[in-house]
Amino acid sequence: MSAKTSGGSDAHKRRAGGRAAEDVEDGMVVGLGTGSTTAYAIEALGRAIEDGLEIRGIPTSFQSRQLAIEVGIPLTELDAVEGVDLAIDGADQVVDSPDSPAHGALIKGGGAAHTREKVVAASAERFVVVADPSKLVATLEAPVPVEVIPAAHTLVAERVRELGGEPTLRSASQKDGPVVTDNGNLVLDCAFGTIEDPRALGQELGAIPGVLEHGMFVGMADSTYVGVDGGLEVRTY
Ligand code: 5RP
Repeated sequence: MSAKTSGGSDAHKRRAGGRAAEDVEDGMVVGLGTGSTTAYAIEALGRAIEDGLEIRGIPTSFQSRQLAIEVGIPLTELDAVEGVDLAIDGADQVVDSPDSPAHGALIKGGGAAHTREKVVAASAERFVVVADPSKLVATLEAPVPVEVIPAAHTLVAERVRELGGEPTLRSASQKDGPVVTDNGNLVLDCAFGTIEDPRALGQELGAIPGVLEHGMFVGMADSTYVGVDGGLEVRTY
């Protein structure tokens, strides 16, 4: 299984992204996540701006910055604002299991943007995840993307194996060699099988020297908007 999960329909993604954009009000600072689902939110915000909405966006990646510029969203930086009102972002997997303590935990980083995504989400008053039904799981099981500084990739891989994971250095598809993140680092996709305690695993990964950030987002999301046939389902945590 690759870190980037796919299989959801564009109609579901559009519904989720479009609904999240409706939560944005005049004057807000909005975190602009990365990926194909959030792109629908960014495009909807561009249309709302044409109709008079006044907001500032904080992109989480080169991709979301480019799209935001294209659709006319004025941009700012985290250190230039008092705070972020709302962050909108996609996910590779979302735990959908109300009886589990991990309900609402996410794996992100299929687009290798999870470090900035986590910083922006953590800065936000409210963090809304946008997803299609293919992202909902009872237990996280996708490989966990781990951004590492280049000098540390072998050490981190060794430590991940000691934790019971199988690390794979993410390869670029149209370049020889590895994916290099927007921060100039590498990504190890770390397969652990089913992850019963995402918070504990996240803490162990975060403690490895050379790890910049991992893609486990635990206790961060406030809601998930799931685009479904004919409508939208909302999970609130
Ligand atoms: C990028 C991410 C994305 O939000 C995640 O991969 C979901 O993307 P998509 O909406 O294209 O399925 O975490 O780092």
